Parts: sequence; structure tokens; C-alpha cells
Amino acid sequence: MTVDALVGALVAALGERAVLQSPEDRARFETGWRYGKGVARCVVRPASTAEVATALRLCQQHGARVVAQGANSGLVAASTPDASGSMVVLSLERLNQTIELDQHGRTVLVDGGVLLSQLNEALLPHGLWFPVDLGADPQIGGMIATNTGGTRLLKYGDVRHNLLGVEVVLGDGRVVSALNRLRKNNTGLDSKHLFVGTSGVFGIVTRAVLQVAPKPRQRAVALVGCNSGAAVLNLLQTLERDLADVLSAFEVMSAAALGPVLDHQPNLPRPFAQLPAYSVLVELSSTLSSELLSLDDVLEEQLGAHLEVAGDEVPDIVMHRGEEFWQMRHHISESLRSVGKMLAFDISVPRSQLPAFTEAVHTMLAAEFPVVRLCDYGHWGDGGTHLNLVWDESKAGVPAAQLVAALQPRIYDLAVRDFAGSYSAEHGVGPHNQRFYDLYTDENVKALCGSLRQWCDPDRLLGTVRLD
Ligand code: LAC
Ligand code: ZN
Repeated sequence: MTVDALVGALVAALGERAVLQSPEDRARFETGWRYGKGVARCVVRPASTAEVATALRLCQQHGARVVAQGANSGLVAASTPDASGSMVVLSLERLNQTIELDQHGRTVLVDGGVLLSQLNEALLPHGLWFPVDLGADPQIGGMIATNTGGTRLLKYGDVRHNLLGVEVVLGDGRVVSALNRLRKNNTGLDSKHLFVGTSGVFGIVTRAVLQVAPKPRQRAVALVGCNSGAAVLNLLQTLERDLADVLSAFEVMSAAALGPVLDHQPNLPRPFAQLPAYSVLVELSSTLSSELLSLDDVLEEQLGAHLEVAGDEVPDIVMHRGEEFWQMRHHISESLRSVGKMLAFDISVPRSQLPAFTEAVHTMLAAEFPVVRLCDYGHWGDGGTHLNLVWDESKAGVPAAQLVAALQPRIYDLAVRDFAGSYSAEHGVGPHNQRFYDLYTDENVKALCGSLRQWCDPDRLLGTVRLD
């Protein structure tokens, strides 16, 4: 039996329990939630910053590339090893003990491997939460490396907006300690930003200080039918003008996206007799108790007044069934998969351009890809749209891979070049969209990333993405 010297050194330094070698033990670390499937040389699971540093030093000595992995729930294949079998997966799942709340400061120090759900459970008794709210349950370190957004970005911002400090281990085991707890601190380079949304290529986040938010005491939800994209934007404008303080979500579902959910989820009753072009999930939330101010009343009154102005633009409104409406929203992706072959997108364009952009996609598809149906939904409040495309493979006439290869550049070009948008609004950069990063990123930004990488990870061992 050949002995892998690196694996032996990792076991000697961190113990048997920290290193997984057998194919069965490695399996769950080798396949991503949606994309990404590879083979790991081994999986190392350090339980402290010092152990992460030791593991990275040993990997560097052996010239082994390393991919950091959180909950592996990312959507761009950035957290799984490649197919070579030579990459080490460094899982943060055992680095999950610290959740230290400073109640008066309203900040929390957490280990990078703490799960979002674990953090929120710990914060709940204190009336607090970390408001970057997602369908998935990622680890905090992974959320930082991706700069996740989610469904309440409109009110709370993305991870970057809620992050105060980080501790990071660099490619050769050096530790950058920037565990700032201050909300105001203008003392030069705010180095934490290097590690936000950069997919783990500059270092591995081992601890972080987060600003947490008071948990709302009440929410009011309505599903508002709109007959066009312009009507959706008019509704958004009215809500922001009058209710910006309490508006916490504005999620849009086209009839093509919502229809399959209602067909496949029999426990979710149809909200409207006939689905309008768009169904908008509007959510208000507040820390005020409902005795002081009833958000249900506020929303009802606001939407009633809007109806009078909007007339036919808004054919229907259903109030109160918030739980159901959120379930509809969160079931879209899986429901679309059961309709046919699906290709997902995570686009943003300037908010005012959403209707024109969506129209341009419809026109382009009808002309060039008539077999493909647009089932768009997303975070219109943030200019985000998940332009999911669905088709019947038996009618496509070409293999799915060929259609995907033709569709992706077409859609991304429309978004980025014609509408000044982004090809990855919230899911980050990974092997799944590397070539579009290469295509659309300014050459001087790439050069800057190259210099930073040289300093942070001299042997270029970290991550599965290239930012330079
Ligand atoms: C969502 C994920 C796909 O918004 O970003 O459901
Ligand atoms: Zn999203």
C-alpha cells in the first residue's frame, strides 16, 4: 500500500479523527448541493484556528491544493474538489464551538464553521437574529466567502453590511487577525473586505464578528398580483415611498415560475383563480408590537390605496397567508426541475431595467431558442432575478449540454453588456461561472487580485477559482 506522506503528516499533527481518507467518509464532501463533483485526496477537519494553520502549512510543504468547505450548499461549485484526486478538502465543520454574544454591543463572535441555524438558535432567547436570510443553511465562513444576500437584503443588506471583523488563515498558515468589534473604525485599510465574496482564494475565514439585529416581533405579508413588470415597479415605488421603514421583502414570481409550484405542491392552495403575470410577495416587519402598530392594518390600508391608483395593473391581492407564500417562494427551484431540464441564473440589473431586461430575454428566446421557456422569479427589490430556463429535452433536438453552452453566453451577454448587470448577483464566483468572470472582469482588477493573491497565498494553493 502506498502511503500518502501528506495524509500521514496531517494525521500525526491533528489526530485520526481530523482526517478522513476512505471513499465512503469522503463522499459527502465531494459533491456540491447543485453543481460540483470531484475527488478529494483526503478531508481534513481542523477544530481550531491553530489547527487550520497547521493543516495549511503541511499542505504547502507538500504542494497540495486546498479547497475550504463550509456546509457545501453553495451554487457555483466553489466548495468541492476538482476531479484530479489531488486536492485536500478543508472542512470547517468541527470549528463550530464559539458563539459569544456581546448583548449591549449587539455583536457576536463566531467560529467560521457555525451554521446559520445554530447562530440564530443561540440568538433567539435574546430577541436577536442574523438577518441574512436564505433557503439554505450555510456556515458563517462560507457565507462570508460568498457574500450571500438572500430574501431580506432589501432591508438588512448582504453579509458585507453585517460583518465587522474576521480572522483568516492565509495559504501558508499565517494568521490575519482583524477581529474588529467596532461599528466605527476609520483607521486605514479595512482588510476584512478582501475575504468577502472572494470564494476563499485569499484565505480561510476561521472566526468572524457579526453585527446582529433585533428580531422583528411581527410580520405582515401579502401576495399582490401585477399584470406587468412595470406594475411591479410601480408597487415597489409606492411601498418604498410610504413604508420603507418596515418593508423587509419584495419577492417576485412570474406565472411561469409559480404555476409549477402549485402543480407540484398539493398542500399549497392556489392564491388566485388565475395567475397574474407576476405575483409579488410583500413583507413588512417591525420590532414594534402589534398592540402599538398593526402591520396587517398598515399593509391592508396601503395596498387598498394603491389599488385605487393602479386599477387594472393590480388584478388581485391576498393577505395574511404569509407562511404559505414563503413556502411557494422557496419551492420554485425544485418544482421547476420536475417540469423538465432546467438551467438556473442569478442575474441582477439596475432595478429600473428589470421589465425591459426580462422582455429582452423573452424576445431573444422566442427568436433563437423557441423550445426554451423563461420561468423568472427573484429579488426585484434588489434588482435580482433568477431567470430560470426550462425545456422539454425530448423536444429540444439537441443534447442539454449543447443548449446550455449556447444559452449561458447569450443570457450573460444580454445582462452584462446590454443592461449593465451582473452574471452572479448573490451566488458568488466558482468553477460554474469562472469563464464569465474571465470574460467580464476588468483586466486591472484581475491584476490587482493577482498581486493580492501573491501576498496571501504565494504558492497559489487555495480555492477552486482564479480571480486574476
Ligand atoms: C433563491 C436562491 C436560488 O433566491 O438564490 O432562491
Ligand atoms: Zn436568490
